[in-house]
Amino acid sequence: MNGGGRLLAGGVETSSPIWLAPLAGVTTRTFRAFHRAMGAGLVHTEMVSALGLSYKNKRTRDLLGDENEQGPVVLQLFASNATELAKGAETAMKARRFDALEINMACPMPKVTKKGAGARLLENPDEAARMVLSLKQFGLPVWVKLRKTDAEGTKAFCAALAVSGADLLLLHGRTLAQRYDGAADRGIVGEIAKIFPGMVAASGDYYEPDDAARYLDDGCVAVLAARGVLRDAFLIPRTLLRLGYPLDEKMEKFANPSARDQTEAILSIGKMGVTVEGERFTLVLARRMIAGMFKGFSGASALRRACSECRDWASMEEILTGFAL
Ligand SMILES: Cc1cc2nc3c(=O)[nH]c(=O)nc-3n(C[C@H](O)[C@H](O)[C@H](O)COP(=O)(O)O)c2cc1C
Repeated sequence: MNGGGRLLAGGVETSSPIWLAPLAGVTTRTFRAFHRAMGAGLVHTEMVSALGLSYKNKRTRDLLGDENEQGPVVLQLFASNATELAKGAETAMKARRFDALEINMACPMPKVTKKGAGARLLENPDEAARMVLSLKQFGLPVWVKLRKTDAEGTKAFCAALAVSGADLLLLHGRTLAQRYDGAADRGIVGEIAKIFPGMVAASGDYYEPDDAARYLDDGCVAVLAARGVLRDAFLIPRTLLRLGYPLDEKMEKFANPSARDQTEAILSIGKMGVTVEGERFTLVLARRMIAGMFKGFSGASALRRACSECRDWASMEEILTGFAL
């Protein structure tokens, strides 16, 4: 896929087919803003408990962010059944505007699956279909993130979702049993994309620009950047360059960032993160990102070590600023 322009996918207009995946504990408002600036066409919240929203849990509510955020932003919810899901969605819709509502049918974590939510729903196509229907009342596109099962099972499940009115299927080519291990099955993702044209976004093993290009060549409308952006914070601009998307000056710089550009990027995370999510979270996020940055620059491992020992943002800021001079 080449060229620029806007892309209409799953009822949402986006600026590029490379999207930030939902990542629990990571895709906070600051992380989302960072990757929007890197050229992500769309960003996801992390998965949010529909039940937690209905119980007016403050920490759950905080995951929604606020209206001032630049979109498109997709809210991902998890729930065990349609009633619980619709109640949570109603609370969320009162809190702020979103561009699409997404149901998590992919999470493999026992604390989610043991309640019948996340990837456990793959075994319950009737409830999954009811869940899609229950969100249609809100007038937003309804998306489902799911995992593969076997080939026939995946096709039948996707067909049930499509018939119920799902606008987009975001398919991760790993089974529930695999969790995040082993290779993602690109074949099944491509096959489903051919059966449901214009309706499939891909997830799984996107670490290099070519990985995303292959999914798009196979007919997927978009690709989710997940662990790839934890390893390389600049994967999205590199990919957009590879795909021939027009980059603004800032993004072009980040497609091949100098040590100073990388420092600036982390400092921008810190500046926003400390205010929005607090210092503790920001330090953890910054360390995680720095672990994959500054590769090939002299002094990089000493810098990473020094940052890993910082106990407050002011000292990390000082170390980073000193490194870029
Ligand atoms: C730390 C972490 C948190 C995740 N949280 C979510 C989540 O909240 N919702 C979801 O649908 N998927 C979640 N995922 C799955 C990713 O969105 C993605 O589908 C998966 O990592 C496969 O892509 P990859 O192989 O390119 O990393 C998470 C993955 C990781 C590693």
